[in-house]
Amino acid sequence: MTDLPNDIPVKDLIEQIAVLKKEREAVILAHNYQPPEIQDLADYTGDSLELSMIAAKTAAKTIVFCGVRFMAETASILSPEKTVLLPVLEAGCTLADYATAEEVREMKKKHPDAVVVTYVNSSAEVKAETDICCTSANAVEIVRSVAPGRPVLFVSDYNLGHYAAKKTGREVILWSGCCPTHALLSTFAVAKARKKWPEAKVLMHPECKPEVLELADFVGSTSGILRHAKEQPDGTSFIVGTEVGILHRLQKENPGKAFHAASDFLICPMMKMITLADVKASLEKTQFVISVAADVRKRALKAVHAMLQYQGAAAPQFPQKV
Ligand code: 13P
Repeated sequence: MTDLPNDIPVKDLIEQIAVLKKEREAVILAHNYQPPEIQDLADYTGDSLELSMIAAKTAAKTIVFCGVRFMAETASILSPEKTVLLPVLEAGCTLADYATAEEVREMKKKHPDAVVVTYVNSSAEVKAETDICCTSANAVEIVRSVAPGRPVLFVSDYNLGHYAAKKTGREVILWSGCCPTHALLSTFAVAKARKKWPEAKVLMHPECKPEVLELADFVGSTSGILRHAKEQPDGTSFIVGTEVGILHRLQKENPGKAFHAASDFLICPMMKMITLADVKASLEKTQFVISVAADVRKRALKAVHAMLQYQGAAAPQFPQKV
């Protein structure tokens, strides 16, 4: 991480970023888990699906991706002519590290009739071995869209694959990978939170474990959770079973509602790496450029495109800055 020079007030730093952004014809995208000041700085905040759709369509020459590596990689797969910057190179995703291209090839040999559906939280090389990608926002629909009679090989989140299998009744071969942050949420923690806030509705991300999802009132992607909370009347309170970064937007967009983290341990360290100083350095020094080798990109693009085309008219509107 770049140290915040203590002689630069945050307000000045934000102004300097705005100038650099204009010079570079850049757009700043931030995932819903990013620190509050990064979300507030961004042109768009959203879930993985929304951000990849913006990356595919933006007219900006440079995309500063405030998220984790696989998200910047997806942006580069979709828009190779643009400069895609990840302000902190070490911002990775443990879940994405659960599958390698070699392992997927091995599984494909074992299950030659399976359709490979890969969670977007994966490397470009793994996407290149994939028939169709999915995100947490569309995993159920994508699994349902697979031709009847064909099994699905779901890479690499066990919990999301299990959820999609349960919702669709389809035969899904599960991968043994998980998001260590969501996997931390236990039934005990949810029961404890329910006892503390008995009126609250429980919102959860499908990366949580199956037995924990059983306790949810609503399951959705980060933006799905945001939309659902918005639709509920003022005065409603919620227990939120996903990374705590989402609480910033939830609270900001719903001042008349109360939000409580289901557990204080729901923190993704990778999503907390990028600072305002990193964003400034990223624009100033053109760092760190994320690109994908042409042959891998071509194959990975097919799988990402298959997902985006499938989204079609049902695709959500780009999130507007709030
Ligand atoms: P969303 O696509 O729901 O924002 O989730 C991304 C993610 O990495 C969850 O851990």
